[in-house]
Amino acid sequence: MKRGILNREELLAGLNEAQREAVTTTSGPLLILAGAGSGKTRVITHRIAYLMAMGEEPESILALTFTNKAAQEMRERVMHLLGQGWRRSPFLSTFHSFGLWVLRRFAHHMDYSLDFNVYDDSDQLVVVRDILKELNVDDKRFTPRGVLAAMSRARVAQGDPDELAAEGDWERVVAQVYQQYREFLRLHNAVDFDDLILLPLKLLEEDELVRNFLQKRFCYIMVDEYQDTNTPQYRIVRIMAEKHRNLCVVGDDDQAIYSWRGADVRNIFLFERDFPEAKVVRLEENYRSTQTILEVAWHVVKENTLRKEKRLYTSKPKGEPVVLYVARDERDEANYVASKIQELSRERPLSHFAVFYRTNAQSRPLEETLARRGISYRVVGGLRFYDRREVKDVVAYLRLVENPDDVLAFRRVVNVPRRGIGDKTVERVL
Ligand SMILES: Nc1ncnc2c1ncn2[C@@H]1O[C@H](COP(=O)(O)OP(=O)(O)OP(=O)(O)O)[C@@H](O)[C@H]1O
Ligand SMILES: [Mg+2]
Repeated sequence: MKRGILNREELLAGLNEAQREAVTTTSGPLLILAGAGSGKTRVITHRIAYLMAMGEEPESILALTFTNKAAQEMRERVMHLLGQGWRRSPFLSTFHSFGLWVLRRFAHHMDYSLDFNVYDDSDQLVVVRDILKELNVDDKRFTPRGVLAAMSRARVAQGDPDELAAEGDWERVVAQVYQQYREFLRLHNAVDFDDLILLPLKLLEEDELVRNFLQKRFCYIMVDEYQDTNTPQYRIVRIMAEKHRNLCVVGDDDQAIYSWRGADVRNIFLFERDFPEAKVVRLEENYRSTQTILEVAWHVVKENTLRKEKRLYTSKPKGEPVVLYVARDERDEANYVASKIQELSRERPLSHFAVFYRTNAQSRPLEETLARRGISYRVVGGLRFYDRREVKDVVAYLRLVENPDDVLAFRRVVNVPRRGIGDKTVERVL
């Protein structure tokens, strides 16, 4: 049976000095401040393996992060370090799947039955759209998406949407929708994505049994991409870590990209307030970029006011200079990019090139230009797998098999494929 390199010395050999300090500081709160490509995820994964090499129980280790992609990466890298043959594994997941796990375990503490549904974005939209229709409000002013976003913002900010009502017309309607929305979800034994964070938090805060269980179970808690956590997520880990106080967060305030969904860089400062005894380790050696690129990046981010000072360096060579091209318009920009790729692709394969843009709409001129010049390309991202219509239809059928009372799933596929069932008929049935 292959056991991976769970030997302390070998685990530490591939780390620089600061990384090693972060990995071996296993007890007490730890704040790791680090820049892009400085080995943050490497530290988390090695720290997990190190704890196991020291004989800690895998089940007592919890590592959380924000996106599915980051969680997947973390899982793969830990599995690689551990090797085959481990029956028990540490708990590595996103905040949302962790929340789901807690809720499935303790649903009965919240008067949900165990087989509750999780509504995704499009389910939520259907519910909100129906409520708005019934309330008969101006559908230009109150779009389902706008109202849904306002509800979510208020909830994440811990302002109860009910309290919004005091603020004005618009807010009053949002509060009203929210109330009916909650009733609908309750009635259908369903929770939404925000609930996956907010309900476990409520359990932790108010239910001693749950709190004791989670505090006891997870002796070591780690958070990667800490800068992207929002306040409720921070409170979840803070409460869970109250007992053992072995909380390690790894973050880069310069990379905070989720402020629009309530993530708050100030959580880094909150951590220092709540865990004053925390040790701080800075990772400043970058393994991904040339010195020139690091310097350009530093000159841009140093203008940010709320940030922790850190300056990346690398032992790599200086590298090519960075070019700033100011284009006249999007056509000019696309032409410039395409010409550069044509010129440079004489020496290297197209797979070595990447073009970034800020919003999806900007891909169009680029795609057109590349296609016209016969440069083959692949758009990464685009519509996510679970957002594709046919995938959602199949999932809806599966949901119905599992739970014939799932009205939203029923409505989605009752006429898919088309079989002449109109809205009127559906309304009569429901
Ligand atoms: N001490 C080291 N020696 C050699 N390579 C390293 C070392 N530390 C990190 N690396 C390499 O640098 C790259 C970046 O590491 P990692 O993904 O852990 O960084 P990160 O800080 O999490 O990056 P990001 O900001 O993208 O999340 C990886 O390819 C990793 O293998
Ligand atoms: Mg990382």
